[in-house]
Amino acid sequence: MTLSINGTHVAREVEPRLLLSDFIRHEAGLTGTHVGCEHGVCGACTIRLDGAPVRSCLIFAVQAEGHDIRTVESLGTPGNLSVLQQAFQDSHGLQCGYCTPGILMTITAFLEENADPSEDEVRHALSGNLCRCTGYQHIVDAVLLAARRMRDSA
Ligand code: FES
Ligand code: FES
Repeated sequence: MTLSINGTHVAREVEPRLLLSDFIRHEAGLTGTHVGCEHGVCGACTIRLDGAPVRSCLIFAVQAEGHDIRTVESLGTPGNLSVLQQAFQDSHGLQCGYCTPGILMTITAFLEENADPSEDEVRHALSGNLCRCTGYQHIVDAVLLAARRMRDSA
């Protein structure tokens, strides 16, 4: 199968039942995508498939044939964080960080659609991503901070 991951062309022979989440982690070596529940509940494995946030544990790798995949590694680097990543750091929007890649991918797509969200809209957008550490308040603060910074720089 062939696909694009973070702008790089990738070609591999894979078993038909290999999950996209496992393909991303073990074949492409991009371990920023986390696997929690493996049945579509926690959102930790969220990536973008042709721009849409999707749970990579619910898709077989072969279903991504020919598609464009973006993972958390596409957002920024340690020395050059995305606006959203920087806001998470500044707002203490994570503790263990296990849920964070999935949340970043979900919210990056969300903010592209809604540049000026209310707190309720942010909470609704986050409702499919489970965090066992933070109580969500700092995550919500981080998203609202990122949205404000993006608007200010637009
Ligand atoms: Fe995919 Fe939990 S690991 S939704
Ligand atoms: Fe630990 Fe969210 S920061 S699960």
